Amino acid sequence: MTTCPITGAVSAAAADFDPFGDGYQQDPPAYVAWSREEEPVFWSPQLGYWVVTRYDDIKAIFRDNLAFSPAVALEKITPTSDEADAVLASYDYGMARTLVNEDEPAHMERRRALMAPFAPEHLAHHQPAVRRLVREHVDAFIDTGRADLVDEMFWEVPLTVALEFLGVPDDDKPKLREYSVAHTVNTWGRPEPEEQVAVAHAVGNFWQYAGGVLERMRQRPDDEGWMQYGIRAQREQPEVVTDSYLHSMMMAGIVAAHETTANGIANAVKLLLEHRVIWDQICADPSLIPNAVEECLRHNGSQAAWRRITTRATEIGGVPIPEGARILMVSSSGNHDPRRFEDPELVDVHRDDAADHLTFGYGAHQCLGKNLARMEMQIFLEELTSRLPHMRLAEQEFSYVPNTSFRGPEHLWVEWDPAANPERTDPSVLEPRLQVNIGEPTAAHHSRPLRVEQVVDAADGVRHITLVSADGTALPAFTPGAHIDVQCGDTGIVRQYSLCGAPPTPVQPEGCPVPHTPRPERYEIAVLREEESRGGSTWVHDHVREGEILTVRGPRNHFRLPEQAQRYVFVAGGIGITPIRSMAARARRDGIPYEIHYLGRERSRMAFVDELADEHGEHLHVHCSSEGGRADLRRLMDDLAEEGRAGGVHVYACGPQRMIDDLTAGSEDWPEDTVVFEHFSSTLGALDPEQEHEFTVHLEDSDVDLVVTNDRTLLQTLRDAGREIPSNCEEGLCGTCEVPVLDGAVDHRDVVLSTAERRAGDRMMSCCSRAVGNRLVLGL
Ligand code: HEM
Ligand code: FES
Repeated sequence: MTTCPITGAVSAAAADFDPFGDGYQQDPPAYVAWSREEEPVFWSPQLGYWVVTRYDDIKAIFRDNLAFSPAVALEKITPTSDEADAVLASYDYGMARTLVNEDEPAHMERRRALMAPFAPEHLAHHQPAVRRLVREHVDAFIDTGRADLVDEMFWEVPLTVALEFLGVPDDDKPKLREYSVAHTVNTWGRPEPEEQVAVAHAVGNFWQYAGGVLERMRQRPDDEGWMQYGIRAQREQPEVVTDSYLHSMMMAGIVAAHETTANGIANAVKLLLEHRVIWDQICADPSLIPNAVEECLRHNGSQAAWRRITTRATEIGGVPIPEGARILMVSSSGNHDPRRFEDPELVDVHRDDAADHLTFGYGAHQCLGKNLARMEMQIFLEELTSRLPHMRLAEQEFSYVPNTSFRGPEHLWVEWDPAANPERTDPSVLEPRLQVNIGEPTAAHHSRPLRVEQVVDAADGVRHITLVSADGTALPAFTPGAHIDVQCGDTGIVRQYSLCGAPPTPVQPEGCPVPHTPRPERYEIAVLREEESRGGSTWVHDHVREGEILTVRGPRNHFRLPEQAQRYVFVAGGIGITPIRSMAARARRDGIPYEIHYLGRERSRMAFVDELADEHGEHLHVHCSSEGGRADLRRLMDDLAEEGRAGGVHVYACGPQRMIDDLTAGSEDWPEDTVVFEHFSSTLGALDPEQEHEFTVHLEDSDVDLVVTNDRTLLQTLRDAGREIPSNCEEGLCGTCEVPVLDGAVDHRDVVLSTAERRAGDRMMSCCSRAVGNRLVLGL
């Protein structure tokens, strides 16, 4: 057995890890569930890779493409035999770096030179052709009552779309279709030695054929297509868009655009049909489709894992990793990480952060074609849910082409009764019902309708509201500290309220690697009427009545309890009791020692005091200033100092700033994250309004002035004004949100632009960069 190059030790589970075995192939996130919980970064002797399975660790790797180079992203995961290598050489096979495996600075220059055809307006042009193709394929089998959707549609349509997008002439399509499978097996699979030679011949042929196609494209460089766009870009920037890039991309581009999407839709339809209630809901309401696509990519995505290699000694999640180490990021496992997604095992088409999945990668290399894939998947789902709502999965065993990364069932048999096809009686079924959403789903796509079950007064001025599902979908389990966003009617106000009920208790069934959390029947929130606020709480008090439907997003949790704690001190000021109530319930259930300090002015205005006293007895300390019980928090922190410095206690607090200041004042030398305050996430990202100034942008082409306030990004401001600016990372890593600058000094905060480009000052990344002075002029 190979041992870890650093520690010399390998756990039994790590030693058993086999990404080509049936366990990983059938369900990668479940297969590595043990790792997410126990050993999130481990050395796999069978693979010779470090394997990483938690969301935050994977994202940190994606974020740092200098320490974690993508150079190995397309490297053969199983070294080929000499004989196969000789075969490839005989075809002059010379696959070079394209984009996905290119290092900086070459990668970003090339990505930016080639990204325009992925802009929403260009992608929109492909929409009618995709719909026509899907429709023709459904026409071919709709009267048969049984079909293998992979063989009869999911394989073919994305391939045709990929070839169209690349600009491949019709005559060449059949040949390129034939070769593309061999390329996947060659790169990500584990072919047997005899198979390797056959695969090498196919790949060699593919290489030569791709070169020929490219030459023919060069004769007609003004035709439409991403390759032709590259050929034209080469004229301007020959050192950026090289011959070797174009030849390699001709081959790699087909795989990038084809199998990913074919597998993605096959996984999605399988998942939705396995969850019939959700399928039926989508059939009834196609506006759920854009977010359903995202949730399927999260829950059962087509990219199970992706690779990097370290360029220097570094660490991942505290584990030291040497230079030159190969890393397998099991992104599908990150997508099931309960530290990131509430109730990750639930298929939840209302999940408002589904699009934060890692299936498209992240950062500088994040998938350029993701919006094309999303568009195709939406159209597939719309056509199938409207024309074959009664389709069901046939009895079958699912098989997967053994490989680490590209994941989708080889066949997907479905059945239905053709006599019940809706279009036989209602031709309007054929009218498109869905406005295809190009880009990430918006708030409108992932709102959750909840019915107000009960409204009672929990204290003077505090309404205690219970909410239940309004559309029959399960409510996701939540962890203590989670909140939901409540839309206040059509006022445009959205407010975040902590869930204050006891969180459901996870159970671990025998033999099952993933803990199951029973779904709650209801959510509870408590809302204090604050006359001086901007109107959210008064709206809730004045308008929320039993039986009404509220539009809600979430739950999400940015105020999580740590995984391990010896003791808790919870401090709540006034309505800050809401997350603390849920946290204390968890501490009590788990038998972790805790105390609650509940501060308020008057007892009659403090919600849940009696219930808390019943539930928590002597653990509860009520400090009511009108009764002379003012809390001395500085003293509390002094008393805790020794224990706190040793990391023996975690203080979780929610309340007014003064209270938080008192708690922080005593905890400067405590270990990180042992004193934690509630702060709701906002759309501000890393923006600190205190540090920013307001500025004006003049949009020259449209002669419009916009004010970028100190708490908004330029990107948000442009979008608020109806400008469709594409974005990916929204933290200055990927180059997608670039806008042209005509005048004014830019405070550049991205890592995309080179020093020379910054100096030129003619462009900026709108997601993060701002104005140095009070005004910028943009070429928009
Ligand atoms: C990169 C997944 C569809 C073109 C990537 C990466 C992943 C991925 C994981 C690497 C990201 C990283 O390293 O951070 C997917 C999935 C798809 C899909 C799951 C479908 C569901 C497409 C389509 C195209 C495309 C339709 C169209 C041409 C690309 C390109 C890159 C890329 C050009 C390289 C970007 C760069 O390195 O700058 N994709 N992809 N992909 N994808 Fe996709
Ligand atoms: Fe990625 Fe702005 S740099 S969205």
